[in-house]
Amino acid sequence: MNTPFVFGKHASSEYFTNRTEEVKQLSFNFQSLINTVIISPRRWGKSSLVLKAAEEVQKIDKNIRFCFIDMYNIRTENQFYQLLAQEVMKALSSKLEEILEISKNYLSRIIPKISFSPDPASDFSISMDWEEVKKQPDEILDLAEKVASSKNFKLVICIDEFQNISGFDQPVDFQKKLRSHWQTHKNVGYCLYGSKRHMLLDVFSSHSMPFYNFGQILFLNKISEKHWIPFIIERFAATGKVISAETAGLICTLTENHSFYVQQLAHFAWLNSENTCYPEQVTNAFETLLLQLSFLYQSLTDSLSNSQINFLEATINGEEKFSSKEIIQTYNLGTSANVTRIKQALVSKEIIEISGSDIEFLDPMYKHWLSKYWFKVRSYKTNMCCLLSK
Ligand SMILES: Nc1ncnc2c1ncn2[C@@H]1O[C@H](COP(=O)(O)OP(=O)(O)OP(=O)(O)O)[C@@H](O)[C@H]1O
Ligand SMILES: [Mg+2]
Repeated sequence: MNTPFVFGKHASSEYFTNRTEEVKQLSFNFQSLINTVIISPRRWGKSSLVLKAAEEVQKIDKNIRFCFIDMYNIRTENQFYQLLAQEVMKALSSKLEEILEISKNYLSRIIPKISFSPDPASDFSISMDWEEVKKQPDEILDLAEKVASSKNFKLVICIDEFQNISGFDQPVDFQKKLRSHWQTHKNVGYCLYGSKRHMLLDVFSSHSMPFYNFGQILFLNKISEKHWIPFIIERFAATGKVISAETAGLICTLTENHSFYVQQLAHFAWLNSENTCYPEQVTNAFETLLLQLSFLYQSLTDSLSNSQINFLEATINGEEKFSSKEIIQTYNLGTSANVTRIKQALVSKEIIEISGSDIEFLDPMYKHWLSKYWFKVRSYKTNMCCLLSK
């Protein structure tokens, strides 16, 4: 029997739950070609949401096409142009002759080399004279608009991990270039998304940045327990298994409603249970999951400084007054200037998120692992040392 849960892949059809409001909003923006920026921490469901909304729109509007670009591995401007040209062409046509025609008509200055694989169902790749592209990227940046307007359809370009542009050489000049082209497009809309909140906010909400006011910013929230519980019950039922609302609620509490972990823990609990899932199957599944993640968390913790680890411990203990002498001394955090540096480092490592006085672990399982294993072992070792030295 196949698992009724999905994790590590985009959630779609029966694996996708809720997000009704967000799907509605995004579908409207897609159809109206309103540029949208989506920001949420890792694995809360950005990509799944964008795909779901695109799917809904394509069902009702045959005149709209989508182009999906993932910048995960993109580190330079050249790589970006190459990927953009390639993916836009794929979205515009799947026919060899048409792709060659588009390239001849709309990329005439660059003249890209297009290599097709012998398998007609398979992709093609593109290579270009990069010196020429860098001098005149206009043709690539306007390719989508030119083709969409001449063929009279709408195109939405969805770019995942957009924050990577901040790491390019001369990122602001590059953003200026993009913005100056994209803002003139009438038949193309952009949906840009990613998980690095601070970097994205810097790009999209700083007055001095080229992408300021580029489009609507949507902060994706977690899916609430109210929606997860019926989803989990229904997914169990789809395979003839039973779980009560309380036990399904336990899955949500342990994972703090983190989309990926809700699905993953539900999967392990489902595997553990024969016909009915009881709370102990969930807690056993939770232990298994923590142990599986142990190796990863151990190396992550090894890469942190002592004061960063101490700061995490203070956060887990519910401390808030990090500028107070007492907290700084108790947790050995150095000085208050050091506390600021620790916070910055942990935010940039995507371990915590800070909004106002709230500090949140981005990975709830890491928080559990630290308090359940790491800090316990550390205090055990410290106590042993004290005993032995007496
Ligand atoms: N609407 C949803 N319904 C059910 N499960 C979901 C939903 N959205 C996300 N998930 C779960 O969360 C996981 C991560 O989703 P997704 O890849 O869409 O997130 P993401 O924010 O794009 O992640 P990343 O930051 O890694 O790109 C999915 O594999 C799935 O298990
Ligand atoms: Mg994603």
